[in-house]
Amino acid sequence: MELEEAIRTRRTHKAYGADPVDRATLEELLELARWAPNHHLTNPWRFRVLGPRSLAALKEAAGPEAAAKFDRAPTLIVASVALSGDPEQDAEDRDATAVAAYLVLLGAHGRGLAGYWRTPAVLRSPEGRGALGLGDDEVALGLLHLGPARQEQRPPERSPVETVVSFLD
Ligand SMILES: Cc1cc2nc3c(=O)[nH]c(=O)nc-3n(C[C@H](O)[C@H](O)[C@H](O)COP(=O)(O)O)c2cc1C
Repeated sequence: MELEEAIRTRRTHKAYGADPVDRATLEELLELARWAPNHHLTNPWRFRVLGPRSLAALKEAAGPEAAAKFDRAPTLIVASVALSGDPEQDAEDRDATAVAAYLVLLGAHGRGLAGYWRTPAVLRSPEGRGALGLGDDEVALGLLHLGPARQEQRPPERSPVETVVSFLD
């Protein structure tokens, strides 16, 4: 798929088919992610592809009401940033990790897969962080959902370009 077409047509999907993304494709997507720009080449992103045990632990940490939503997509990846302790670098590293996470979604879309970036509260709770093995030096940015698309998504509105762009003198 052509780059600009992929950027414009990638959509958030909340309904998925049952087949997990195969290991080789996941490895391709996570290899792609590491080409995100990052200041001082800190390579701050970390990705955890959830297996049955880690998914069960995360659901348990989330509680019964929230747990059902973790079954939406057959493949879940936690994207997190490794923190250095320097606030300026950590802010930049978080930005770089967001770009890396987006590359996973974009690469998945380019391969005909559906994706969704979700930020459930359990990623920030002590129980959820414990279930994922996130130490004090790591912050989760999102739970990336991947899998086969089950329905077409219409593009949500974007603000018109002139409302967000200024050409300064
Ligand atoms: C940092 C970030 C966090 C997000 N968290 C959620 C979320 O928790 N729940 C949700 O429904 N969508 C979440 N989204 C997806 C956005 O709602 C979605 O990207 C937006 O509606 C635009 O739709 P599109 O992705 O199809 O262009 C998140 C997106 C980003 C970038």
